[in-house]
Amino acid sequence: MDKLVITRPDDWHLHLRDDAMLASVLPYTCERFSRAVVMPNLNPPITTVAQAAEYRQRILQARPADSSFSPLMTLYLTDNTTDEEIRKVAAAEFVVAVKYYPAGATTLSDAGVTAIEKVYRTLDCMQANDVPLLVHGEATDLSVDVFDREKAFIDQTLAPLAGRYPQLRMVFEHISTTDAVDFVLAARQGIAATITPQHLLLNRNALFAKGLQPHHYCLPVLKSERHRLRVLEAATSGSERFFLGTDSAPHATEDKQSACGCAGIFSAHAAIELYAEAFDQAGRLDRLEAFASHYGADFYQLPRNEETVTLTKSSWTVSRTLEFGKQDLTPLRAGSEVAWRLEHNND
Ligand code: NCD
Ligand code: ZN
Repeated sequence: MDKLVITRPDDWHLHLRDDAMLASVLPYTCERFSRAVVMPNLNPPITTVAQAAEYRQRILQARPADSSFSPLMTLYLTDNTTDEEIRKVAAAEFVVAVKYYPAGATTLSDAGVTAIEKVYRTLDCMQANDVPLLVHGEATDLSVDVFDREKAFIDQTLAPLAGRYPQLRMVFEHISTTDAVDFVLAARQGIAATITPQHLLLNRNALFAKGLQPHHYCLPVLKSERHRLRVLEAATSGSERFFLGTDSAPHATEDKQSACGCAGIFSAHAAIELYAEAFDQAGRLDRLEAFASHYGADFYQLPRNEETVTLTKSSWTVSRTLEFGKQDLTPLRAGSEVAWRLEHNND
């Protein structure tokens, strides 16, 4: 199969940043996706519906003129999120979820939740109002091995949480391990997971290929081949619990090529093409559409898109750098080929 027509996909986990950086990266997502769940980890974070409304307006203003892309907003959960704010989320159609970052787990997570008990009340309110919780699932105890932090989080926090709040809908974001796949498959109804292109295509060798590769550093960090294969199997299994979320997370090249390089991989410029590559490698292109365009919408109780996009198996070379506000960024596959291409003639 070297041509694929699928329902236009959505990206259920995306970082867009703000201002000139937003303007630089947004067009790539608009070209490919109809909707995206926009992460709230700005500096300062988006913690209120009023802030989310303003951020959404900035995104709409930065959209290319011909785009009908729709940003779906999220709030950043803190120790101090109020029930009143949760009720506002439930009432605001444009805010679809609340994001839980354990404090210190990842980029711009310092304002996150310092201890899960501190948000029990808020989670009660979210459950009562059917507001989904999006979870960055990594333990923050620095004594836990960095490759084991997802498993530790499942055992210490996520599994107990799923039991304590039996009706709370949850998305385990950017899963990277066999443990996460097993947890999601065995979990009760209402628990799903997003999967990134990097966790489908790369294992941790990519971090050290002929030298340190900062552009392959993200959180959760890439895992061993055994884990990659299991995550790929889950994505291509046809289970509605797994759906597309790129976690495309732009950073300036100089901030990644640094003595303390920050976490995040930019993939928006080739996102659906990279997923097509992964599904093709698994011999499961027939299951790309449901993963990319159906299951996420179903989980969020939103209509599936009606337009289609066409992908062809025809390679192209990714630019070495892309503009990022006043700086530049280094995209995934910089200077190398992507095997699939998005056609631009049918929307
Ligand atoms: C994200 C970022 O840069 O905002 N980084 C990352 O490595 N994924 C934060 C996140 O989603 O963890
Ligand atoms: Zn993210």
